[in-house]
Amino acid sequence: MKRTMIVAGVLVLGAGAVMAQQEIAVQQDNLMRSIAKNQYGVIQKMTKGDIPFDKKAADQAIASIEADVAKIAKTFEINPKQDVVNATYGSSPKVWQNKADFDSKIPPVQKAIADAKGKITDVASLKAAYTTINDRCNDCHDTYRVKLK
Ligand code: HEC
Repeated sequence: MKRTMIVAGVLVLGAGAVMAQQEIAVQQDNLMRSIAKNQYGVIQKMTKGDIPFDKKAADQAIASIEADVAKIAKTFEINPKQDVVNATYGSSPKVWQNKADFDSKIPPVQKAIADAKGKITDVASLKAAYTTINDRCNDCHDTYRVKLK
């Protein structure tokens, strides 16, 4: 009886750990999705004319990206050692083998954002900002993001 209870307890703990790990992976993915919602769902769409140019909305999108990017280092502190179920992209194990280098990819994004802030006046300036910011995002993705499907 005692033995059965211990085994059951260990199983529950094990399941809890798995849940927590999946939760961490989801948090990391959600942060990237939130960034993407502004970068692709707002800014890129405006540059393509899919939605009308709106300076206020563009400025807001850039401010949201700025706030999210500031959370990357901390949000990716722990290695969840698993991918989000059914995700298209996952993190390379290199993120945690080389966390300092991973973190070093963040300030260039912040600099690109800082340089663009307050300078968006039309589609052309938004397009320039989009490209500069996106190139810096990809500097991290090239090494640390893996395509799962
Ligand atoms: C310091 C590294 C780093 C920076 C900077 C970074 N990302 Fe990511 N990004 C990742 C990693 C790692 C993943 C894969 C893991 C995940 O999805 O959580 C990822 C995943 C993504 C995904 C895929 C999400 C999905 O599962 O559909 C998108 C979209 C994305 N990033 C957009 C951006 C944009 C836009 C920027 C720049 C404004 C950016 N990222 C900056 C590391 C970074």
